[in-house]
Amino acid sequence: MKFFIDTANLEQIREAQDLGVLDGVTTNPSLMAKEGIKIKGEDNIKKHYLEICEIVDGDVSAEVIATDFDGMVCEGEELAALHPQITVKFPCTKEGIKAVKYFSEKGIKTNCTLVFSVGQALLAAKAGATYVSPFVGRLDDIASDGIALVKAIVDVYGYYGYATQVLAASIRHTQHIIQCLEAGADVATCPLSAILGLLKHPLTDSGLATFLADYKKVNG
Ligand code: G3P
Repeated sequence: MKFFIDTANLEQIREAQDLGVLDGVTTNPSLMAKEGIKIKGEDNIKKHYLEICEIVDGDVSAEVIATDFDGMVCEGEELAALHPQITVKFPCTKEGIKAVKYFSEKGIKTNCTLVFSVGQALLAAKAGATYVSPFVGRLDDIASDGIALVKAIVDVYGYYGYATQVLAASIRHTQHIIQCLEAGADVATCPLSAILGLLKHPLTDSGLATFLADYKKVNG
């Protein structure tokens, strides 16, 4: 399973990249706003995407703001022209699906986002999306089962041989990552804290403390 980091924070992206396990980045308008990046200040946002592309080797999802097809095409073309690592992200709406189809036919990578059902994931795959993003945490928030959706999409895509990769999004904690692994997700896009949480085990900490104490007994 590939690991993407779900943030527009350059320090966190660098920290995950330095760990050596990062495969890509996802951003969205909320994550950009959190970093104070103005989407309308063209140069501002383009510079930020380029900085992200310089830090990581993999795909970087950049989301359009337009909600109509023509606007999505215009914005998507500008984003795609920025850097070969840019994957253009569209919401799973009627216009968004049309835009995914348009860009996939041109060989431009796409991410179909805000997916909450197998039916939406089917349309994303049929439109040729590179990635489909089911939102795990937001389904859990409304007492639904986000991981069950990831598993259902993985099963359906496998059964029919769709090439679209299942990118589990809205991952909130470390256990979600383990559950995505078990569900067969192709990618999990996670906050840095959830990735670092995978390292935590009290037996690792106490074991290391014992090794160092024993070493000191003999070596001073
Ligand atoms: O990957 C999508 C993500 O950024 C949404 O996460 O926690 O706002 O549901 P959250």
